[in-house]
Amino acid sequence: SAIEEDIKAYEIKDAASLEKFRIEFLGSKNRIKDLFALLKTVPNEEKRAVGQLINGVKVLAETKFNEQKEVLENTSEEGEKLDFSRPGDPLEVGSRHPIALVRSEIIEIFNRIGFSVSEGPEIEDDWHNFSALNFPPEHPARDMQDTFFIEKGENEMALRTHTSSVQVRVMENGEAPIRTISPGRVYRNEAISARAHCFFHQVEGLYIDKDVSFADLKQTLLYFAKEMFGEKAQIRLRPSYFPFTEPSAEVDVSCTICSGKGCNVCKYTGWLEILGCGMVDPNVLEASNIDPKEYSGYAFGMGIERIAQLKYRVNDLRLYSENDVRFLKQFTSAL
Ligand code: PHE
Repeated sequence: SAIEEDIKAYEIKDAASLEKFRIEFLGSKNRIKDLFALLKTVPNEEKRAVGQLINGVKVLAETKFNEQKEVLENTSEEGEKLDFSRPGDPLEVGSRHPIALVRSEIIEIFNRIGFSVSEGPEIEDDWHNFSALNFPPEHPARDMQDTFFIEKGENEMALRTHTSSVQVRVMENGEAPIRTISPGRVYRNEAISARAHCFFHQVEGLYIDKDVSFADLKQTLLYFAKEMFGEKAQIRLRPSYFPFTEPSAEVDVSCTICSGKGCNVCKYTGWLEILGCGMVDPNVLEASNIDPKEYSGYAFGMGIERIAQLKYRVNDLRLYSENDVRFLKQFTSAL
């Protein structure tokens, strides 16, 4: 029939022509219905055959409609055929920065032995960065050479040169006993090279309680070194001086890269300095309203870059802040 020809020839190229097709052949006033209406005029003995014919036309229209609908649904607007079996564009997975990785690991290690995390401002006043930490007025560390000073209104402020400033804030605001670590960025006015930078990262540790001893400090640091670098790690304490601790020490950890034979990370010595520490000076406790007759404590400050250097064999401090993706990408698997 003519309708059959029309259905076959009908060009469905978009949603609009599909809808027109539907209205014409399948809608409530469709052309095939007209044929069924004509069935009344057909002699009885032919009704069955003619009915089947018309029904065939109806099925043809329905089939074409469903087929074309599916074709349209699988075709993008530009008309190209979509291929759902094609592999997707790869999603680039980012990586965490080695400094962030090491910082979280340090926090976890100290969390396990009851240390909380505290933070302080990077722009600091003289009191918290120096005076309360027992720096005499003429101490060379206050010198312009090390400290970035900042004019801020009436007050002269500085970029903190160490996280020891947070010790003071924690002691001022809290009450003994105190067991906390303070991770953060610190600044020093130094020429940038492979081994020095104008900013780097530290984690301060502070433990104040009754009868805290130097042995507690040593044991805590040994625990830390073993957790961080493995059971074989050893530490070595060298006498040192800090205005805010007495006695004071610098701590080296055994080089896990060359295991004693010497490499350029440990400068062929088998040891790498990672932190300064000591028993909190009574003057410092007093400055923060903690009674040194009742309480004692230890403090330490470790360099995150140093620990990352040993953990990941990074030999140039500048790599940490250059954002070179070839460097950063190497830590993807460290997630
Ligand atoms: N603040 C010292 C530094 O930056 C490290 C330190 C912290 C030493 C705590 C002793 C106690 O070098």
